[in-house]
Amino acid sequence: MAVFIVLFGVVLGLCLISTALLRWNEVKYRKKGLPPGTMGWPVFGETTEFLKLGPAFMKNQRARFGNVFKSHILGCPTIVSMDPELNKYILMNESKGLVPGYPQSMLDILGKCNIAAVHGSTHKNMRGALLALVSPPMIRDILLPKIDDFMRSHLSHWTAKIIDIQEKTKEMAFMSSLKQIAGLESSSMCREFMPEFFKLVLGTLSLPINLPNTNYGRGFQARQNIVSMLRKLLQERRASQETHNDMLAHLMNTEENRYKLSDEEIIDQIITILYSGYETVSTTSMMAVKYLHDHPRVLQELRKEHLAIREKKRPEDPLNWNDYKSMRFTRAVIFETSRLATIVNGVLRKTTKEMELNGYVIPEGWRIYVYTREINYDSRLYPEPLTFNPWRWLDKGMDAQNYFFIFGGGTRQCPGKELGVAEISTFLHYFVTKYRWEEVGGDKLMKFPRVEAPNGLHIRVSDY
Ligand code: HEM
Repeated sequence: MAVFIVLFGVVLGLCLISTALLRWNEVKYRKKGLPPGTMGWPVFGETTEFLKLGPAFMKNQRARFGNVFKSHILGCPTIVSMDPELNKYILMNESKGLVPGYPQSMLDILGKCNIAAVHGSTHKNMRGALLALVSPPMIRDILLPKIDDFMRSHLSHWTAKIIDIQEKTKEMAFMSSLKQIAGLESSSMCREFMPEFFKLVLGTLSLPINLPNTNYGRGFQARQNIVSMLRKLLQERRASQETHNDMLAHLMNTEENRYKLSDEEIIDQIITILYSGYETVSTTSMMAVKYLHDHPRVLQELRKEHLAIREKKRPEDPLNWNDYKSMRFTRAVIFETSRLATIVNGVLRKTTKEMELNGYVIPEGWRIYVYTREINYDSRLYPEPLTFNPWRWLDKGMDAQNYFFIFGGGTRQCPGKELGVAEISTFLHYFVTKYRWEEVGGDKLMKFPRVEAPNGLHIRVSDY
């Protein structure tokens, strides 16, 4: 009996403390004019529920509070916007005080000149320099031949093997970028660079605790190692008479380049290019392989498009710009994959001053999660939204529609969209014209907070 009374007392005490803490956190963030919502626990907020329930958490909160609500996730008081019009407004109005709001760990590791860390005229300069690097003529004349050459060699000798397509697409995204940046994909520097880059990526997704055995600590150290390698590369290029035709040569060419960057900016620009195109391109490629496996009719149509291109060529002929432009169905497969898998759930902004949005008052320094995931499953825009149907993208200029946020929107819209699509298209070209594949089975796929196969996605490959 005595034990029962003590236990009852402990449970009651815990309940009272929990209620008091939850209440205290609500009161702490109570301010006139804020959107409705709950703030969860002190410090942790609702992060656990958000990570555990993912999209279901967002939908629950929307059902309770509407399209715009407040929460406390990933260490910050946050406004979540699932309102398409407001999302568009936020993305279009950086100059009104709605700047990128990515976590400190990400900004520290990607560098203070990285594009997400800079605003105003510095952003214009960094973005201008980047757009010049990935413009259609640059893709046509310089990058596509490099991508083609890389994919041919990366996709050779897969026959009669079991391949982890997640691992292969990750290596592909990284090494293909490194080839376009500085032709390093088969050098000893690439072998040193790759593990450092993977540590850097992990570090950007961690809590900013700078100790040697934390992901952040390792990521930060990896950044320093990468910066030294790139600094050495810049010195070697300056000391040598050799001419190069790659992204780095363009960035270093101060005479012909309209956008002049310092060495520090060039290094952060390179890290940004590697980082931004890494997970997006690799995960979209992996998920395209998954959906094509599950939808034989789509695979048949895609293969038809690629075999028709191959038929007009000798086996050794590379893909050219006209071939790429003719891949209409492939483009549709890539967009449908990005939509259905939701490779990017949304983007983060923060307020630089108190402001009014949709009639609510948003305090200075609050994060805004422009959550675009749900729009991908809106049946008014995409009939039968859960069906993988690339044909829907052929009907109208769907990627020009008003609420197409797969590549973001406004002043920060993805500058690498065309390059990313060209890389994935070239990968698919060589994959479907060379191989057939079967899933080994038993692999799990996670959809939130990132799309990933925790133990890999294994396929058995044979010749086509
Ligand atoms: C399927 C592939 C890709 C997807 C789905 C994608 C998606 C996105 C999204 C949603 C944003 C907006 C971020 C924001 O508003 O905060 C973005 C920005 C960006 N992307 Fe991509 N991306 C892809 C490929 C690439 C590639 C290959 C590059 C390499 C050049 C790249 C470079 C960037 C950069 C530098 C930004 C920041 C732009 C700025 O802040 O002005 N992306 N991307």
